[in-house]
This record gives sequence, C-alpha cells and structure tokens, in this order.
Amino acid sequence: MPRKPFIAGNWKMNKTICEGIALANELKGLVEGINDVDIAVCPTFVALSKIGDAIKGSNIMLGAQDTFWKESGAWTRQIAPGMLLDAGAKWVIIGHSETRGRFGTVDAELEGVLNYFGEKDITVNMKAKAAFAVGLNTIIACGELLSEREAGKTDEVIVAQMKTDLAGFSNEQAMKMVIAYEPVWAIGTGKVCDAEEADRVCGVIRKVIKEMYGAEIAEAVRIQYGGSVKPDNAAELLGKPNIDGALVGGAALKASDFVGIIKGAR
Ligand code: 13P
Repeated sequence: MPRKPFIAGNWKMNKTICEGIALANELKGLVEGINDVDIAVCPTFVALSKIGDAIKGSNIMLGAQDTFWKESGAWTRQIAPGMLLDAGAKWVIIGHSETRGRFGTVDAELEGVLNYFGEKDITVNMKAKAAFAVGLNTIIACGELLSEREAGKTDEVIVAQMKTDLAGFSNEQAMKMVIAYEPVWAIGTGKVCDAEEADRVCGVIRKVIKEMYGAEIAEAVRIQYGGSVKPDNAAELLGKPNIDGALVGGAALKASDFVGIIKGAR
C-alpha cells in the first residue's frame, strides 16, 4: 500500500496564541477538502489547546514539540504525554536536534558547559515509549551535524541514533511512528539537502527499521525530510521514493508557503 504523505509544521518558539489561531484559521480554509495528505501543526505548549480548538473538525491534526517520559509528579517544567493528549494533541515530535542541543549556537565561551536540555538517544526512546503508552503518535527526529557529514560519518550517526531511539517498541507502536530525517546543517539555513542524498539517507533509515521490525513495518512507516523545505523544493523532495513527507519549520509559519508544500506532496 502506498504511504500517505504527511506534512507537519513545527512552529518552534514562534506565534503568540492569537497569531497561531489566525494562522490555523487561514490554513483551515486553504486545505479544506485535501484528504490525500496528512497535515499537522505543532505549536508551542501554551498554544496547544487554543490551536486545537481552532482546528477542531478540520483535516489538520495537532502536534506538540516535545514531552517527558514520566506520567505525573514533581517534575517542574516538564509536560507529560497524557497532558498533550488532554490538550488535543495526536502527535508529538521527539528528539528534534534543537532539543538534543545539536545545533551548535551555544556561545563559544559556554560550549561544553551548557548542554541545553540534556536530550540523549535514550531519553528520546523513553519519551517515545511514554507517548505511545497514552496513545500519542510520534515523529522521531534524527540528523547529522555538518562536521559529521564532512567526516563521512552521516550513515554511522543516523544508524546509531535510530538503533537507540527506536529500540523496544511493540510492532503496533512501531507502525505508529514517523521518522523525520533532519540534517542539522539544513535546518533554518536555506541549505536544503540534495533530494537524491536526502532520499538515500531516508533509505538507510528504512533499512534500520527493517532490521529492527521487519519488512512489512519498514514499508509502512513514513519518513519525512526536514531542513529548509520550501514550496519551490517540496515537489522534488517529496517525489523521491523514500521521502514520505516533510517536517517544516520556517515555511510553516506562513499559510500560503505551508500550503504550497502540502500541494507539492500531492
Ligand atoms: P526549517 O524548515 O526552518 O529549516 O526547519 C526545519 C525543522 O527543524 C523542522 O522541524
């Protein structure tokens, strides 16, 4: 069965509640009737429930940008998967390079001292299991740094991330995961990964899934590409056999651009 394309907008730390509602309302009108592409928006935690209200009854799904692996308790600042579900989310992004602290913008002085959010492959895995346990679907992100790519280590890095990130899911859970391949150097830089190369790495990811969960699941799981996806490069990327969607940052903040990408998936 062909995989249904899935375009998700990661709004990151952008949009007030008011601005988010306006964007969601505009999007709703523009994507009405599109049922051959899955569509999601992932606003900030504080805007989740209001954006959820705005898109209720539409073909846009709600996603969150991170979660924690505990159900509840004394975990100041953390947000449990059940709370995301309660706010209306169906999806959660886990292991984005910006939560892994892999984006290399720490002040040089603080490099090595600051480790942003302490995300590791093992915490990505724990978060995914906790999300599945309450019935959320996951978008699990991976990607190599520019230095890793230049050292010829892309595949090694991706395979290592995937093996830990995806370990120990049930087959039913594995079916519900979506993987986002986001080369860190392509995020927010305007430097899109060459479509052939993005497809090749997505193929490497599919091979790891096959080794871990078998051919049927590997064929069913959707793999998104993320990193400077725009309306003018979307169709080429999304036309590749191993690329089943996009995780969109900057271009998801403007309805017309996001819709342009969704159309590129059709
Ligand atoms: P950009 O589309 O802004 O490059 O961001 C990609 C991304 O990180 C989506 O999660």
